[in-house]
Amino acid sequence: MAFPPRQDATATYSPETVRNAYPSLSDGHAYLDGAAGTQTPQSVIDAITGAYRAGLSNVGGTFPASHRADAIVAACRAAVADLVGGVPHGVILGANMTTLTYRLARVLTGPGDEVVISRLDHDANVRPWTQTGARVRWAEVDPVTGELPVDQFTELVGPRTRLVAVSAASNILGTRPDVAAICEIAHAAGALTYVDGVHATAHGPVDVHALGADFYATSAYKWSGPHVGAVIADPVALESLHPDKLLPSPDTVPERFELGTAPLADLAGVTAAVDHLAGLLPGTGSRRERLLASMAAAEEHELGLFAEMLAGLETMPHVTLYGKPARRTATAYFTVAGLPPRRVAEHLAARGVNVWSGHNYAWELTGALGVRDSGGAVRAGLVHYNDRSDVERLLEGVAELRSSPPARP
Ligand SMILES: Cc1ncc(COP(=O)(O)O)c(C=O)c1O
Repeated sequence: MAFPPRQDATATYSPETVRNAYPSLSDGHAYLDGAAGTQTPQSVIDAITGAYRAGLSNVGGTFPASHRADAIVAACRAAVADLVGGVPHGVILGANMTTLTYRLARVLTGPGDEVVISRLDHDANVRPWTQTGARVRWAEVDPVTGELPVDQFTELVGPRTRLVAVSAASNILGTRPDVAAICEIAHAAGALTYVDGVHATAHGPVDVHALGADFYATSAYKWSGPHVGAVIADPVALESLHPDKLLPSPDTVPERFELGTAPLADLAGVTAAVDHLAGLLPGTGSRRERLLASMAAAEEHELGLFAEMLAGLETMPHVTLYGKPARRTATAYFTVAGLPPRRVAEHLAARGVNVWSGHNYAWELTGALGVRDSGGAVRAGLVHYNDRSDVERLLEGVAELRSSPPARP
């Protein structure tokens, strides 16, 4: 995928400036838990409180507070569209990715259809499709590398395939499968594609057209925004779908897919989060252009630190790392000999290092890796605001566990 050159060739990524935008990062903790939800910059907090302070009513009314609500919704759709390369009228907003995916699964598939889903995926891009009554075909993961081989999709996808659901990045191994190639196979057979971008969106530039995603799901709380989900699709395709809805609610696209009253102030926060991401790297140009440059710089920053994190963990004989995918986000998944993952997370928490342990809802993948029934593993991930000291603190904390006593039965 070709991205425009950076607008300001002299601009450099400054983690320190980025970190200063986040009030919570001054609490002394190393936040390596971004894959479960990021911290919130002051600009997002201000946008949310500002929306309430200005007087905020419901949408569609005749007075200024309602006009402000209309403007907030429109701005949010435009911002999310810019983030992923979609169009505002194709942005469906909702509570979170899981809720939206269940809703879309019911309208996209049903008994008599075939769906292809992958064991790499978070359960939110698995169970909504297995529970519609469609016949399921599984794409398998290589448990050693953590890759999702593309070749198998030519076998799995056929004339009966209605939809292929696949993740743009694994939330535990960070694997970035070749989504564009998978979507091409799906489209050649006349199938739709539903791409889970919840983990991927935070970690680099996104172009839904280059990916070949007919539907692309994301969640703002993974990229510095509030707890709001979005699915981005072609509005023309959405016109042909008719989900269950209340009789008096709008039948327009994308409103037809949205249930009840939106969390309006939070939507203002989503727009602020996109603007924040667009400004990670100083530059000029349209917001879309600045997003592409900023997110590419953020990815470079994350992967640079991640190489140090991986190198450090690899030298520790008591650590087992899972997966070694060629293309990945800065997300590590590991166990420590003799210790349940939760105990490792507790040890690190006591040192001010925030990590997750368990299956992290990657239910099929942790099953394939053989760790699901023994408490999963520890997940430590980097996002754009992490710095070298976060990595060093993780490595020091894990190194201390070298001579840990055997696990209690
Ligand atoms: C890769 C991935 N997909 C889907 C989800 C579910 O997202 P949400 O919490 O918005 O329902 C998550 C949440 O952790 C995730 O990491």
